[in-house]
Amino acid sequence: MTKRRLLIVWHSRTGASEALARAAAKGAARESAIETVRLPAATVGPDELLAAQGFIFAAPENLATLSGEMKAFFDRSYYPALDRLAGRPYAAIISAGSDGAGAARQIARIVAGWRLKSVAEPLIVNTNAQTPEEILALKHVPPGPLARASDLGQTMAAGLAMGVF
Ligand SMILES: Cc1cc2nc3c(=O)[nH]c(=O)nc-3n(C[C@H](O)[C@H](O)[C@H](O)COP(=O)(O)O)c2cc1C
Repeated sequence: MTKRRLLIVWHSRTGASEALARAAAKGAARESAIETVRLPAATVGPDELLAAQGFIFAAPENLATLSGEMKAFFDRSYYPALDRLAGRPYAAIISAGSDGAGAARQIARIVAGWRLKSVAEPLIVNTNAQTPEEILALKHVPPGPLARASDLGQTMAAGLAMGVF
């Protein structure tokens, strides 16, 4: 029997969202009944979305919205996937300097058009980057947020495995 697939789509400019996406995939991998696929947003389009039964979207907030590369993935995929993903579960992970609400809202609004089902509050991780130097530096995400991302991945995968979503 083909395994159900969890697709983790990520974009990251300075490493935080990438680390969080990796942690989510690690958590999801604890569920052996589920296949977890983690892909950079630039490589994902409607075919990859349609082949998955659940999604985690991980990206930074840039200028109060989703990073451009993550938005480009949604722009590229939105109409080809419209009306073909309804009811599939998703969760969002946002890395932000101090806010993240704008990016989380934007993802929720986009995927409401696809009629995806939210199965968790967005995980917003603030990296406390304030100055240009801090913002442009590579990020090291502390163990706490990594563990939360891992738990989110496991919860998604367990729900998919049990068919509860
Ligand atoms: C161009 C740019 C714009 C940013 N705008 C915001 C913002 O509007 N709100 C915020 O909280 N953080 C903002 N940040 C900070 C990033 O969201 C933060 O550093 C985040 O941890 C980066 O995640 P990443 O390492 O996955 O790229 C911005 C960073 C950049 C480079």
